[in-house]
Amino acid sequence: MDFFEQLAELAAAMPRRKMVRSDHPAWQAFLADRPAPPETADDAPTDMGTLAALGDAAKMCRACPLGTGRLHAVFGEGDPHAKLMFIGEGPGADEDASGRPFVGRAGQLLDKMIAAMQFRREEVYIANVVKCRPPGNRAPTPEEAQKCAHFLEKQIGLIKPEVIVLLGASAAKYLLRREEGITRLRGRFLEYRGIPVMPTYHPAFLLRQESAKRDAWSDLQQVMAKFGKYPVKK
Ligand code: URA
Repeated sequence: MDFFEQLAELAAAMPRRKMVRSDHPAWQAFLADRPAPPETADDAPTDMGTLAALGDAAKMCRACPLGTGRLHAVFGEGDPHAKLMFIGEGPGADEDASGRPFVGRAGQLLDKMIAAMQFRREEVYIANVVKCRPPGNRAPTPEEAQKCAHFLEKQIGLIKPEVIVLLGASAAKYLLRREEGITRLRGRFLEYRGIPVMPTYHPAFLLRQESAKRDAWSDLQQVMAKFGKYPVKK
């Protein structure tokens, strides 16, 4: 059985604890220690009003060539008030065909990672840096990412997650504007507009590099701790 599948099974077998969120002492201590952010998520432009309106705008968007080659724009999905948000790179073939993020093989692994973290997919929000599929599953170019950035910024501003998990180097590069590789960036919290952000490995990478799953799990456990969730002991 896959590493995250085992963890997800253990989490599912655990009696469901009352969910502890922003009132958890560890989270309050974290907030108290944190210097006032220069900007907050509330300052992000939200002129497209609602997630639905923003999603409609993404579906119409032709600001870069990806908009003409797509089958579907993949805006994102999940709880619009999610406390936890995952951000990937961009849709692949399965996502382009379905219009939903992370539904292919990498998405199936992401589902297991989310379950291992004791969350349900419906209670988090999943989005990507670019909303349309880069051909051949290549990474988005800086120009494509820049044209699309306002969608993600507004999405974050509307959802106001308590924690963001960045999946892979592109997400870290374009949201945090950090050039370091994911191996250097992962494993410690950074910040985006006052929101703690944990960069970790992309599930597609974890499918190729099984041995990196333990590091990814250690990153995800740091995120769980912010919500007062702790892994189930085997
Ligand atoms: N990879 C991503 O980065 N995003 C998806 O939605 C699917 C695969």
